[in-house]
Amino acid sequence: MKLLVVYYSKTGFAKRYAQWLEKDLSCDCVPFAQRRGVDLSRYDGVVFGSSLRAGKICKLAWFRKQLPQLSGKRLAVYFTGAMGPDPQAVRQAVAQNLTPREQEQVKAFYLWGGLNYKAMGGVDKWMMGVFRKMLQGKKNPTEEDRQAARMVAASFDRADPANLASLEEYLTR
Ligand SMILES: Cc1cc2nc3c(=O)[nH]c(=O)nc-3n(C[C@H](O)[C@H](O)[C@H](O)COP(=O)(O)O)c2cc1C
Repeated sequence: MKLLVVYYSKTGFAKRYAQWLEKDLSCDCVPFAQRRGVDLSRYDGVVFGSSLRAGKICKLAWFRKQLPQLSGKRLAVYFTGAMGPDPQAVRQAVAQNLTPREQEQVKAFYLWGGLNYKAMGGVDKWMMGVFRKMLQGKKNPTEEDRQAARMVAASFDRADPANLASLEEYLTR
């Protein structure tokens, strides 16, 4: 099975998962910026990897546009984020990004990432700062708010090759 991974990564989490997939499955691995040079029809399986940004999977629109020409291939999306791998939150994120019909064609996997403030661009750092202040300023924070405030307080890294087990199983079975 000839596999391709196209990934979009701002601070390195989705990229590291792409590199682990490349090593484990000997697949071709291409950054989003180089996607135009790739002939998707040469592959039996195509994976798109990216991350969550305010609930949206970055650059997923590109992959969704390719779906009609990818029918019959094994397709997956993985997305990284800061949130913990809570199944209900993951289901919600998937439903916000792929229609039920698309979910029949593409299997989605959440791969826990983290936050890397050092590698973030200025706008993203600023947005996270606004979010942090908003959480800190809440008068009656819920447990969820407190958890979110702890989560965004500092950089952290939960990326782990072991998180790839289900995706790799799906791609190789
Ligand atoms: C502006 C902004 C919005 C974000 N929104 C979410 C989000 O909605 N859910 C989440 O779990 N993580 C969110 N994150 C965290 C990123 O998804 C996380 O750091 C991800 O692992 C980054 O992957 P990358 O380095 O491959 O781009 C956000 C980060 C930024 C900077």
